[in-house]
Amino acid sequence: MKYRQLGHSDLKVSVICLGTMTWGEQNTETDAHQQMDYAVANGVNFFDTAELYAIPPKEETYGETERCIGTWFNKRGKRDDIILATKVVGRSDWLDYIRGGRACLDRKNIEQALNASLKRLQTDYIDLYQLHWPDRNTNFFGKLGFEYDPQDVFVPIEETLGVMNDIIASGKVRYFGLSNETPWGTMSFLKVADEKNYPRPVSIQNPYSLLNRTFEIGLSEISHRENIGLLAYSPLGFGVLSGKYLNNAQPENARLTLFDRFDRYSNPQALKATEAYVNIARQNNLNPAQMALAYVNTRTFLTSNIIGATSMAQLKTNIDSVNIHLDDRVVEQIESVHTAIPNPSP
Ligand SMILES: NC(=O)c1ccc[n+]([C@@H]2O[C@H](COP(=O)([O-])OP(=O)(O)OC[C@H]3O[C@@H](n4cnc5c(N)ncnc54)[C@H](OP(=O)(O)O)[C@@H]3O)[C@@H](O)[C@H]2O)c1
Repeated sequence: MKYRQLGHSDLKVSVICLGTMTWGEQNTETDAHQQMDYAVANGVNFFDTAELYAIPPKEETYGETERCIGTWFNKRGKRDDIILATKVVGRSDWLDYIRGGRACLDRKNIEQALNASLKRLQTDYIDLYQLHWPDRNTNFFGKLGFEYDPQDVFVPIEETLGVMNDIIASGKVRYFGLSNETPWGTMSFLKVADEKNYPRPVSIQNPYSLLNRTFEIGLSEISHRENIGLLAYSPLGFGVLSGKYLNNAQPENARLTLFDRFDRYSNPQALKATEAYVNIARQNNLNPAQMALAYVNTRTFLTSNIIGATSMAQLKTNIDSVNIHLDDRVVEQIESVHTAIPNPSP
């Protein structure tokens, strides 16, 4: 395993972070414990979860993933060996079962969410507390362009930062991070933090894969110059980049077969690009999923690549991507597909 510094924190995280959002839905608690055991035995020291999980979000499984991690800590007693990241939801009027449909990034909501996460996770501190998505109306979750809504009222960034300051001072949280953020949002958090002497975010968890490299446009420069590393999510585009959905295949028990609402990575352009990437992998004797993950692992702005797996075989393949070297010729071939079909899945 390889390790990188998490922003300005004193934490060194593994380049592979263990994603967890299938636990409690596609995976059982026993599966989850087996995944954590294997990942840790193979050098992974970084887990990413959220109050919202399991995915897809629903009332019956809300908090289930954190519960699986909590029981693992309780059994294994390895809390201090793990860098644990979780998240509080942003404004969520569409999730009526979370804090009565009034969840947002104000003090009351964040404090309530944090205390409940600590309880489910059976710990007294979170290493990295992330704001799952912005409170304001902006472009994320598949939305490429920004549409201005002059009526939009949102929790001021200064208020959210003040809460981050206090929960860090209390010892319940060590560092905080952003997620699904835009360049404007990221720079605004930094500016207000510096002005008010509040803590700066150490990371930004955004989508990044061969099917969505929009992070490179405005955020990669910010991430280098402001020392905020990318935690890349959905690095296989929900599994699409493994090639298993090509030729209209519907593999049994796979995410897109089970949940047809997930169409972010399976539009015609994404499938066309995927076919080209899979061909590059095959021509170069690479496993398509490992090639896609190795590309993410080797970006200069990347701190950690958050993989997801529903089987032990997938987990092994994905963790092993850290040992895959992509030679210049492969990277050139990848770049030419990206030029022809850029970012089909924002
Ligand atoms: N901040 C956010 O808003 C946000 C959003 C999404 C994810 N995340 C985080 O990022 C983590 C990873 O996201 P993700 O699950 O979307 O990542 P992903 O890598 O795009 O997709 C992972 C899924 O692809 C399939 N898969 C994985 N490895 C495979 C392989 N080698 N061959 C074939 N299929 C394979 C599995 O699903 P099937 O077996 O069902 O096909 C697996 O669950 C999540 O657990 C979560 O921690 C955060």
